[in-house]
Amino acid sequence: MTEEPTDRREWDGDEYQQRIDRLAATGADMHGEADLVASLAPSSVLDAGCGSGRVARELARRAIEVVGVDPDRSMIDAARRQSPELAWVVADMADVELGRTFDVVVMAGNVPLFTPAGTQAGLVAGCRRHLAHGGSLVAGFQLGRGYSVTEYDEHCTLVGLICTARWSSWSSEPFTAGSGYAVSIHRMA
Ligand SMILES: C[S@@+](CC[C@H](N)C(=O)[O-])C[C@H]1O[C@@H](n2cnc3c(N)ncnc32)[C@H](O)[C@@H]1O
Repeated sequence: MTEEPTDRREWDGDEYQQRIDRLAATGADMHGEADLVASLAPSSVLDAGCGSGRVARELARRAIEVVGVDPDRSMIDAARRQSPELAWVVADMADVELGRTFDVVVMAGNVPLFTPAGTQAGLVAGCRRHLAHGGSLVAGFQLGRGYSVTEYDEHCTLVGLICTARWSSWSSEPFTAGSGYAVSIHRMA
């Protein structure tokens, strides 16, 4: 799902989920992110910036253990209403310490574009803290909106992660210099 990025904003989680439901009702594929993450065969996934829980919910449906983290209480309330049986945490990824790691940490839906400007390195470091040895950080975000893949790679390098794959979509279309979207996988160097 594409959402116009701004600086940190407050969300209406129910309204966000209703838009997802409306899009799903048109027959749009809502699970490209979950398909890519599931292809890595993780046992556990941290959905970092989970919003109303779209990706985490689909991964849980595929029998993958998930935890969703988002600083926006309205988003987490909406996620919890949809799936009260799953683990949802109101927290900023830059600060949170969950005390455990995950096979995959995924940031779907432009998360680095919605964290306050200048906090992307902290966001990436928070994801890295929760990555199991040999795990993968998977992220997709729009380009040309104030945060580049070069900056993202630099922030990953700072915490010992290197880019092992990059596409222009969640369905693995090739990434080129003119791509407007980047889906990246980073692993420990
Ligand atoms: C466009 S929504 C995407 C939600 C969900 N991942 C999806 O794809 O449906 C972006 C989300 O990133 C969250 N976010 C922004 N900064 C964050 C941070 N520092 N840590 C965790 N989540 C963050 C926002 O609160 C918002 O819910």
